[in-house]
Amino acid sequence: MRERLEELRREALAIVAEAGEEARLREVEVRFLGRNGEITGLLRQLGSLPADQRPAAGREANLVKAALQEALDQRRDQLQQASLARELRGEGFDPTLPGPPPPAGALHPLSQVQRRLEDLFSSMGFLVADGPEVEWESYNFDALNIPPDHPAREAQDTIFVRAPQATAEASAAAESDGKADGVVLRSHTSTVQIRALKKHGPPLRVVAPGRVFRQEAQDATHEHTFHQMEGLVVDRGVGVAHMLHAMNSLLEGLFGRKLETRLRPGFFPFVEPGFELDARCPFCDSGCRVCKGSTWIELMPGGLVHPNVLEACDVDPEVYSGYAFGLGLSRVVMLSYGIDDIRWLLSGDLRFLRQFPS
Ligand code: DAH
Repeated sequence: MRERLEELRREALAIVAEAGEEARLREVEVRFLGRNGEITGLLRQLGSLPADQRPAAGREANLVKAALQEALDQRRDQLQQASLARELRGEGFDPTLPGPPPPAGALHPLSQVQRRLEDLFSSMGFLVADGPEVEWESYNFDALNIPPDHPAREAQDTIFVRAPQATAEASAAAESDGKADGVVLRSHTSTVQIRALKKHGPPLRVVAPGRVFRQEAQDATHEHTFHQMEGLVVDRGVGVAHMLHAMNSLLEGLFGRKLETRLRPGFFPFVEPGFELDARCPFCDSGCRVCKGSTWIELMPGGLVHPNVLEACDVDPEVYSGYAFGLGLSRVVMLSYGIDDIRWLLSGDLRFLRQFPS
């Protein structure tokens, strides 16, 4: 038994000394020291030796085991050090290998719907216009025929950045630098009607998507920041039929099919006559949660541009007429995807956003 032990020791140590990889060391470990390993097997045979030889043979076998284990550990250590040194020298590192794939981003559902509508209106010859989110109070209200005492101006509705200059002294000072006007966060995209018409003049076809702001107590249907898309057409002989056609095309682009629509009278200071456009509920035939059982959903206000608005933009209402509409982008995004709380939209919550791959 002694000789056999010595033989195994020598053989095992020789393999360990030559091993160039850690995998080879694991093989040696299994082959000699594993549960069915050769040295382990030899130890198991101790019982068959004469009793007086057992202690010495046992000690010997354990020494061999320990020596082999130590050799294995040492060699493993050496190999790891060597591989670390190679890595530090930049060997075995391939900078051309592709890295892990970056997670794919996607457009926000608001942007997806906005772009779809921009494409649609561009194809009908509309300009896509932009306007500032911090706006003159007079563009947000006065030029749109909203009088100074209109409740919409009140602070609980509109977010004022700077109040209009109240005292004669202050306004004289402000006027000298042209800043008597109040400054607000625009409460609607109708402001772009004024800017676009002043800039381009008639004939004009324009849509203006963007963020608007209101002082709201937030809940599932109210948010201080939301999105609208304004439409404006001014030309000779523009009437309600043109407006209806544009609105119907918009809905078809939005829902992918023609929807039955109806106009109801509605009041907005900047249009006359003013309307509310309702569409047959795209989600049911006989009433559902979305249309609150009525089969109609209120979708879009609009009307013929008030002569006072045209005049405020130096357009002669005797020659030109126009229509305007205001689409609640946030609302139609919620409608089209069945989102039941507006606060998700700007939450930035990835659990929400990941549900809208582009
Ligand atoms: N600006 C209105 C709002 O935010 C919506 C609106 C109504 C826009 C009628 C229009 C319009 O262009 O004609 O409540």
